[in-house]
Amino acid sequence: MHLTDEEKDMLSGKRGEGVRKAMEVVVKFGELYGANRLLKVKNAHIDAAAYTTIYDAGTEFVEFLVQNGAKVAVPTTINPGSRDIEHWRVMDLSPEFAAKSDRLEKAYMALGVSPTWTCAPYQCTSIPTFGEHISWSESNAVNYVNSVLGARTNRLPDLVDVCCAVVGRVPEYGLHLTENRAGQILFDLQGFGPEWFHDYVDYAVLGYLVGEIAIQRVPVINGLPESTTKDQLKTFSAAAASGGSTALFHAVGHTPEARTIEEAFQSKTGYERITVTPEKMNEVKNRLTTAAHGKVDMVMLGCPHSSYAEVLEVRDLLAGRKVAKGTKFWIQTSRTVYELASRSDLRKNLEAQGVTFIKDTCIMVSDTEKDWGFKAVVTNSGKVAQYVPSLAGGMVALMSTAECIEAAVKGEW
Ligand code: F3S
Repeated sequence: MHLTDEEKDMLSGKRGEGVRKAMEVVVKFGELYGANRLLKVKNAHIDAAAYTTIYDAGTEFVEFLVQNGAKVAVPTTINPGSRDIEHWRVMDLSPEFAAKSDRLEKAYMALGVSPTWTCAPYQCTSIPTFGEHISWSESNAVNYVNSVLGARTNRLPDLVDVCCAVVGRVPEYGLHLTENRAGQILFDLQGFGPEWFHDYVDYAVLGYLVGEIAIQRVPVINGLPESTTKDQLKTFSAAAASGGSTALFHAVGHTPEARTIEEAFQSKTGYERITVTPEKMNEVKNRLTTAAHGKVDMVMLGCPHSSYAEVLEVRDLLAGRKVAKGTKFWIQTSRTVYELASRSDLRKNLEAQGVTFIKDTCIMVSDTEKDWGFKAVVTNSGKVAQYVPSLAGGMVALMSTAECIEAAVKGEW
């Protein structure tokens, strides 16, 4: 791999052992993917934030970097950790588990990351621009910034993302290269009436369906309505990245590299075509709904973390009513949205109605050994439907936001 003089200095240890180790990892990783050079980045986002994703060995690695003089080289945001830092007792976590998360949080602060603790930094603190090379991880975030913003990043593995932030560079391969950003499979929406694609759940189901079929190919979606919002594309991004491993999609007429189908495919032809119908969507939605009808233990919104607009929608749909006794209602969100909701009384009012705000974390990256005691979790998120059964226990009912709110009020679905 060709390295600049500055990069060679980093690799030789002239900038300290922490930087040397980080550069060694980045170079080896780049060679693995056949990269010829490194690209400078202006910002980074780290996924390896939760204790339950990197455990003690990962924590020690971040501490090793800090103890050996490393700092992040560019503005760096960070994904949810394993606890609500202020109110972890609300999550009923043990002090021992909270202490493990605290240790990792402190290591990251010492490394110089911004304490965002959110999986949707692109909606609050870090908004990459079109064509910009960045160093990001977290599957929904990578999919969103590549697709909706037109920035360029691969889906970096945990801890490689930390090393890239420390050296301020990423290997040039994959989605950094224009030719790899061409669509590879077309999903054509057919037969949908005007009642479709108003709610997040339709985007969650479509995302899951697309991800499952496309797997690692770049999907092109044709036929989404004009009314599609950024929050809905966020939901789609998360579901496609967890249903398969989509890191870039094109939605014709909505995303910047897909003004037309031809542009989305970079004029290539001969691609596979899949027709998506309401019947196929219903089949996927039914498959993802695993909970039996009856009592609801938890209503979970905010995967990915809710935007302020999404919290306002909850306020409007709840319309002054209260969450049923015996049912928990979590909105998982960023510290930024939480602070805004606190300033406007939105938080106070929703809390009085029985809603709990969980910030800095989410259930899937919190204590995965814990028995949360949920049998039925209701959600509008495809990612929750995918991961809650294995990571938090309990079965899931996937439904529209309005139906989630009704289930919260009744305590059953
Ligand atoms: Fe974010 Fe947790 Fe969902 S990190 S995307 S809320 S699984």
